[in-house]
Amino acid sequence: VDLALNRSAARGLSLQNQIFEQIRMQILEGRLRVGEPLPATRALSEQLQVSRNTVALAYERLTAEGYIETKPSVGTFVSAEIPETALKAAASETPPQPATTKRTTRLFSMARHRAQALVNPHPRKLVADFWIGRPDADTFPIKTWSRLIAERLRTSKGALTEYRYPTGIPELREEIAAHLRPARGIITSPEHIIIVGGCQDGLNLVARLLVEQGAPVILESPCYQGAAYLFESFGAELFTVPVDEKGIQTRRLPEVRNGTAYVTPSHQYPMGATLPLDRRLELLAWALRTDSFVIEDDYDSDFRFCGSPLTALKGLDCSERVIYLGTFSKCLGAGLRLGYIVVPPSLVEAAGQLKTLMNNGQPWLEQAALADFMSTGGYLRHLRRIRKLYLARRNALVSALRRHFGDVDVIGDQAGMHLIWRLCDYLPPAKEVEACALSVGVGAYSLPSAGAAFFPPSAETSRYLALGFSSLSEAAIGNGIARLAAALGAAQVRTSKKPHHSITTPRARRRTVLATE
Ligand SMILES: Cc1ncc(COP(=O)(O)O)c(C=O)c1O
Repeated sequence: VDLALNRSAARGLSLQNQIFEQIRMQILEGRLRVGEPLPATRALSEQLQVSRNTVALAYERLTAEGYIETKPSVGTFVSAEIPETALKAAASETPPQPATTKRTTRLFSMARHRAQALVNPHPRKLVADFWIGRPDADTFPIKTWSRLIAERLRTSKGALTEYRYPTGIPELREEIAAHLRPARGIITSPEHIIIVGGCQDGLNLVARLLVEQGAPVILESPCYQGAAYLFESFGAELFTVPVDEKGIQTRRLPEVRNGTAYVTPSHQYPMGATLPLDRRLELLAWALRTDSFVIEDDYDSDFRFCGSPLTALKGLDCSERVIYLGTFSKCLGAGLRLGYIVVPPSLVEAAGQLKTLMNNGQPWLEQAALADFMSTGGYLRHLRRIRKLYLARRNALVSALRRHFGDVDVIGDQAGMHLIWRLCDYLPPAKEVEACALSVGVGAYSLPSAGAAFFPPSAETSRYLALGFSSLSEAAIGNGIARLAAALGAAQVRTSKKPHHSITTPRARRRTVLATE
């Protein structure tokens, strides 16, 4: 055996580990061949000037891991069990090649697209960052949460050590079912609720349940990247239906069979429309007629700034065609990774089995704390508080835009945590406004940067700027818009209000390629 102990190169490794590693590598690289003898422990210890026990322990570990074998009264050899051909392939000199199997084409096609733009590109660097869909970190009920977590930990018993409740802990599912009736008009029971790691996890589960290669999936255009990229990754055949000022144009839904439509009826993402009743009913009728399912993503519906809370599409779903996705990412925080799906009876069993296969359920501790937060009324109090706060911030943003840019065309500001500003005609396209804003320390986002996918990009979509208001104080909002106005030279403000209309092409498209720019 050609061994040399280089003590400085192997800093931190014990002598025993160095011997083990070197012999192991010589075997893996084919320098020590299958069946070749190794020196006796005494000989090697003398050669290396280490104790015999050190060598013996290294040999013991090599034997335990299957690299060498000892034949009593004969000697120690490289194990005959090691497949030499596999070793040769692994040790070949050629640099690693990307795999070229059919399976990986899916990955390659995904790589053409950017990752979903949810992670804030400028964390903490900007003077005013109108990043979308982000709750104010200072509003997180940290004291109550810490207390609830500590209490649950104290009484956890087996909860942290057992596999239990793949579909979510019963207390939380009960609380959510009880909350959904008054809040969203959904009458359901805990058995139909599955706790997931946010909407994205819920979408994955539903896609695994319903979408196979080539299956028709209907998307709003524009829509949420997180959903569009996901369905694309499942090899779905994507159909896109344009959105206008009322939301998805349901008359243009394609007459496919066994489709899956992904929609955001409460606050269309990203344009912010609330789908009116006639279109909701049309969507449900379409699902029934075409034997399809509708996924309702209700990501930020807790924030409705006019009128009473809207009944969710799921609340109208007499024929059990709607899968409802809810999340705590917007009302509490995305770091919790907690959400839920409400599943029609026909899918409950399969969805529960899938959730078990995927991960055996979400972490117990946060579920338990959240159940307690809801049952003690803390959650509703928290919601009331942040609703008021975000309303004031929405108002501050609209006023600041008017102050600096005149009679601005603002869309989708009746609900949610962001609004869309249709840029005045004298301003450059959104991408340029975004870059200009950034140069003065302001985050303002064109639709692709704000996590929207659209089909295909049009001159019209480049006129929209997304501005999130929930995480900024009223003062920061005022300051940010003033800076933006100064940078854009908006002193020569001209009122330029145009009615906004359909922002994509008029007919549903087939085999859509997702736009990335
Ligand atoms: C349309 C839409 N759905 C869902 C989410 C949230 O997903 P999650 O619950 O996975 O955090 C977002 C976040 O921005 C969103 O914009």
